[in-house]
Amino acid sequence: MTGETGVTGGLESLRGKVALVTGASSGIGEAISEALAREGARVTLAARRVERLHALAKRLAGAETLAVECDVRDEEHVKNAVARTLERWGQLDILVANAGFGYRKPTVEGDTAIWKDMIDTNVYGLLLTLKHGVPPMLERKSGHVVVMSSIAGVVATPGGGAYCGSKAAASAITDALRMEVGPQGVAVTAVEPGVVISEFQSVAGYAPDIVPNMLKGATPLYPPDVARAVLFACQQPVNAAINELIIRPRGQVYP
Ligand SMILES: NC(=O)c1ccc[n+]([C@@H]2O[C@H](COP(=O)([O-])OP(=O)(O)OC[C@H]3O[C@@H](n4cnc5c(N)ncnc54)[C@H](OP(=O)(O)O)[C@@H]3O)[C@@H](O)[C@H]2O)c1
Repeated sequence: MTGETGVTGGLESLRGKVALVTGASSGIGEAISEALAREGARVTLAARRVERLHALAKRLAGAETLAVECDVRDEEHVKNAVARTLERWGQLDILVANAGFGYRKPTVEGDTAIWKDMIDTNVYGLLLTLKHGVPPMLERKSGHVVVMSSIAGVVATPGGGAYCGSKAAASAITDALRMEVGPQGVAVTAVEPGVVISEFQSVAGYAPDIVPNMLKGATPLYPPDVARAVLFACQQPVNAAINELIIRPRGQVYP
C-alpha cells in the first residue's frame, strides 16, 4: 500500500525510475545495474572501462541504459555523468556510489601511490559523486542515495588500515549526508558487505590465503546477493529509509 505505514505496506515499484551507478563495469555495481534494469528502471552505467559498459548495455537490451565513461576521481567526469543522465531522462531518482577498490598491507609496508589512489577513489570520488549527484534529487525533494561502503568501514583488521580507513570515511560521509538531506525527502543508505567474490580480490592483489582466512569455510556472497539487498532498500515506501545495511556471508564471523 503505497505511502502507508505499518506491517501491511508493500514494496514500491522502480519502473521508470532513473538510476546512476558508478563502478557499473564489474562485480557489485554491474549486478546492481542489472537488478535495477530488470525492475524497469532506466540506468546510467558509469565506469572507466567503457567497453565493458557497452557490453552490459547490450546484455540488458530491452532496458533503457546509457553508458558513460566516468573516472570518479575526476570532477569533470562525474559532472558529465550526472549531466548526461539529466539530458537523457530529465531526472535522477537513485544514485549508487559504488566505485572503489581494496588493498591490504601492514601500515608500515604500505605503497604510498596505492594509498593516494585509494583515498582519491574511495573517499574523494565518493564525495564528488554525492556533491554532483544529490542536487537534482534535492530539487525534486525525492530520491535515494546508496553508498557502497564495507564491513571494513565498521570493523578494522590488521593489514586493512588504508582500506578500512577509506570505508570508515565512506560510512561517516554517508551518515552526515543522511542528516543533511533526509529532511528534504532524500533517503540515504550505507551498504556494508562482508566477503563478496568479484574482481575486487584480484584488483586488491590479495594473497590466495586472505579470503579463506576470512571465510573459514563459510560460503561467500556474490554480487547478486548484494544487489538484492540494495533493491530492497530502494523499494521502501517514501516514509521509510534503510540507513545502514550490513550483509555478510551467513557463516562469516570476522570481520
Ligand atoms: N568484493 C568485496 O568483498 C566487497 C566487500 C565490501 C565492499 N566492497 C565495495 O564494493 C564496491 C564494488 O566492488 P566490487 O566487489 O564490485 O569490485 P570490482 O568487481 O573490482 O568492481 C569495482 C568497480 O569499481 C570501478 N572503479 C574503480 N575505480 C574507479 C574509478 N576511479 N572511477 C570509476 N569507477 C571505478 C571499476 O570500474 P572501472 O575499473 O571500469 O573504472 C569496477 O566497476 C567497492 O567500493 C568495494 O570497496 C566490496
